[in-house]
Amino acid sequence: MKKVRKAVFPVAGLGTRFLPATKAIPKEMLTVVDRPVIQYVVDEAREAGIEHLIFVTGRNKGVIEDYFDIQYELQNTLAERGKTMELTLLEDLQPRAGTASFTRQQAPLGLGHAVWCARDLVGNEPFAVLLPDMIMQAQKGCLAEMVELYEIAGGNVVSVEQCDPAETNKYGIVGKGETVGNGFKIEGMVEKPKPADAPSNFYISGRYILQPEIFQILEMQEKGAGNEIQLTDGMLKLAAQQSFSALPFSGRTFDCGTKEGFIEANVAFALWRSDIRDKVIGNIERLLETVEPVSVRNAAE
Ligand code: UTP
Repeated sequence: MKKVRKAVFPVAGLGTRFLPATKAIPKEMLTVVDRPVIQYVVDEAREAGIEHLIFVTGRNKGVIEDYFDIQYELQNTLAERGKTMELTLLEDLQPRAGTASFTRQQAPLGLGHAVWCARDLVGNEPFAVLLPDMIMQAQKGCLAEMVELYEIAGGNVVSVEQCDPAETNKYGIVGKGETVGNGFKIEGMVEKPKPADAPSNFYISGRYILQPEIFQILEMQEKGAGNEIQLTDGMLKLAAQQSFSALPFSGRTFDCGTKEGFIEANVAFALWRSDIRDKVIGNIERLLETVEPVSVRNAAE
């Protein structure tokens, strides 16, 4: 069984739900506490043993590439000023030379298309896909748990969580088969089923380990929901040829693609950090007592 060495981060979406901020800043660079959203997802990938990071970017996303590069002037200045802690932090987060690649999705034709754009960089081996919108909080990272399941079950693995059974029509839902390792075999996948037709309430939640044959399917460039090339459609076809297993993730997940999820992530990660937790609790309590809501012009959800 081939090891999962590479991870693809599709970061080419327009991020319209975060306009006007995303006019100039990619949503993946918005900060949760003191680091960009993308850093949390990259940390998760590294914890799972990923050796090579592949970013599928788009126009106006150059700052992501800069972020993962060395900033010599800054590092020299930090060294001169004796800011050893800050310097070590930057060095620890820095990908080693040659272990991060960037390719562009020239038009935002959908998540399936973005993943397909990474085909030459991935080559003929299994790979992970992490949606940077979703960041997770757990003692053990979601992808690390998925790699454990992959080492037992092989094939393809997706992360799943349970949704409100009345809301299955918002998600890709999987059917639950026999237990394998820390997860279960998937028996059937359905995209956005009505609650009455849903095989379970386990939805696919943003982490994937896929076999390279997915690229041949995505190569067909068939459009699905929203007139976009959907990764889920590709997986449905791949499921007819190969096994899929699911890892029910038990940590906390935050959808940083929505305003509420992003704010919740900020609060949750601030509370998680012993250096700022107490102050943040005090601030929130005070705000809850004093802030009244007003109406604001807003990008649609
Ligand atoms: P979303 O559906 O959240 O779309 O994409 P979006 O454009 O990023 O955000 P909104 O809906 O306009 O606010 C889910 C993930 O797929 C990537 C996004 O970057 C995000 O990580 N994606 C989506 C691409 O890379 N390319 C695409 O064509 C579409």
